[in-house]
Amino acid sequence: MAAISKLSFIAVVLSGVLAAPLDGTSKFTTHRSRISARGVDLPSYHPAAIYETFGDGIEHPLAKRADATSEDAAVSFLEGKLGFKKGSFKYKTGFKGEGAAHVYVKQLINGIEVANSVANVAMKNNKVVAYGANFVKPKHTGPSTAKVTSDQAISLAESHLGGKWNSWPVKTEYFIKDDDSAVLTHVVQIQNEDHWYEGFIDAHAGELVNVIDFVADAAYRVVPFTKQDPTWAGFSLLTDPYDMTASPNGWHQDTSSYTTTRGNNVIAYHGSASTGQTSQSASGLVFDYTWSSTTQPSTTNNIKVGAVNAFYVANAYHDLLYKYGFTEAAYNFQSTNFNKGGKGNDAVKMSVQASGTNNANFATPADGQAGQCNMYLWTLTSPKRDGDLSNDVITHEFTHGLTNRMTGGGTGRCLTTTEAGGMGEGWSDTVAFWVETNSTTPVDFVLGTWVYNNPNGIRSVPYSTNMSTDPYTYATVSTKNEVHDIGEVWATVLIEVYWGLVAASGYSSNKTDPTGTAGNIVFLHLLVDALPIQPCNPTFLTARNAIIQADVNRYSGANKCTLWKASQDAFAKRGLGPNAANYKNDYSVPSGC
Ligand SMILES: *[C@@H]1O[C@H](CO)[C@@H](O)[C@H](O)[C@H]1NC(C)=O
Ligand SMILES: *[C@@H]1O[C@H](CO)[C@@H](O)[C@H](O)[C@H]1NC(C)=O
Ligand SMILES: *[C@@H]1O[C@H](CO)[C@@H](O)[C@H](O)[C@H]1NC(C)=O
Ligand SMILES: [Zn+2]
Repeated sequence: MAAISKLSFIAVVLSGVLAAPLDGTSKFTTHRSRISARGVDLPSYHPAAIYETFGDGIEHPLAKRADATSEDAAVSFLEGKLGFKKGSFKYKTGFKGEGAAHVYVKQLINGIEVANSVANVAMKNNKVVAYGANFVKPKHTGPSTAKVTSDQAISLAESHLGGKWNSWPVKTEYFIKDDDSAVLTHVVQIQNEDHWYEGFIDAHAGELVNVIDFVADAAYRVVPFTKQDPTWAGFSLLTDPYDMTASPNGWHQDTSSYTTTRGNNVIAYHGSASTGQTSQSASGLVFDYTWSSTTQPSTTNNIKVGAVNAFYVANAYHDLLYKYGFTEAAYNFQSTNFNKGGKGNDAVKMSVQASGTNNANFATPADGQAGQCNMYLWTLTSPKRDGDLSNDVITHEFTHGLTNRMTGGGTGRCLTTTEAGGMGEGWSDTVAFWVETNSTTPVDFVLGTWVYNNPNGIRSVPYSTNMSTDPYTYATVSTKNEVHDIGEVWATVLIEVYWGLVAASGYSSNKTDPTGTAGNIVFLHLLVDALPIQPCNPTFLTARNAIIQADVNRYSGANKCTLWKASQDAFAKRGLGPNAANYKNDYSVPSGC
């Protein structure tokens, strides 16, 4: 193959109308480099394209031949236009659109398709109205037979990309490298939780030379899910935070695709759900708005920051809890349920900076009807503070959706008594604690410090295993009748259980891995598993029994004594021993523990 690609290329470009930048430093249009979760550089290269449009159209070489198809015409046009030999191209696919017929053509080298070059030709009334192409005449062309086998390529791709081959047949294609050489590659599809890659393994050198990720990228500047509020570690620009198992189409698609804070799990909006969504700040689902801490949250820009964070946390919550069992069949909130059970059409509507102050709420109708979350501004400081940036508040609210849906079969009617409603508040605080606590040994936890502008937070005492700091026991319930007060007692009990499990089985920071065996992972499983097996309107006693039962179901009761034990942080320490009744504490444990 002639070694004149650059020159002929530039000549075409200069006579053309528009081209990608020729400047070698402008790599945005041709390259992409990402670092994978395992720290591997994932290169990607697409040679620069030329593109011309011709108004009413120009003639193609086969115009006089009545039997010429638009496929043949396009191939012949490109060969003439770009100065390639016959047989360098192959018709790939095409369709007749309303305005024009579209033909897509692939480059061939030694009769083998080139992965990263393609041309498109649009024809109207038998004339060419536009075309684009990024064909290359490589300086060096590697052999057309492979030295590395496809099986070897599969294991190389798996180890480079961190995932498993999905059994899609391995193809052989030439790949044009950015030094203008063409190498034969094995194209291997690799999938893991978050990505679906095509890896191109050099069939001689065994290197990974190119990576395509079929999953669209998205980026959000947000307070990371596990941080309570902006004071912990500020904002980060997170790329692709969604989980492919929980949200197979990402966060911006149900039956349509959106470039706003809308998707299959959540619609976050300011004002109106249909018109008040926040748009991407740049194409490719980039939501990169910078927070100003010194201006009011109600400035146009700060509203966008709030909406993006609310959208992100709500989706991160969906994906996390999905992995612990809050799935379609378990009555979760999704617009499309992918035929996995449950009722769809109920993505959460999340009103950002809704009209109310110093609070937040979450309404849970039955499965099939959208949940409604309202996040408010907090007025105790100047400037005011936006609850949409307080991840603990959002996590608390979305846990109402979890517990109301998973108790009693998705009706939203089973946490309605004072005691059960109070426990609902307790679960909500507990899940916020679970997401944000990163210690391996007991530490106190305080909720809402930032929005409430108070280091002691919005509850009466910090959550603590220290009986002087947090004295609540089962018997305390009889002295309370407000749901958040009762919730403090229930969360105190659950957090004791959490630390008991962490003491027994350790702590894992990999919270999104539900296969883990560490105590904190076990805890969230038991919390979620117990919800559908407890009765409608549970009490402290029945909910405790459901947790003990959940441990039998999932772990064959392996944690039974840890859950009960008085000496450790667990039920009996807070008076919920087996003989507790009528708000009278029992500090004993079952025999055998
Ligand atoms: C761990 O939690 C503390 C608060 O208890 C927080 O300040 C810190 O940022 C957290 N660290 C990580 C790595 O999340
Ligand atoms: C519990 O808290 C009290 C009061 O803050 C403190 O004096 C005591 O040392 C703490 N106990 C433990 C075991 O940390
Ligand atoms: C977390 O767990 C997932 C699932 O097992 C795993 O793929 C990932 O590598 C883990 N992450 C870390 C940081 O260990
Ligand atoms: Zn609440």
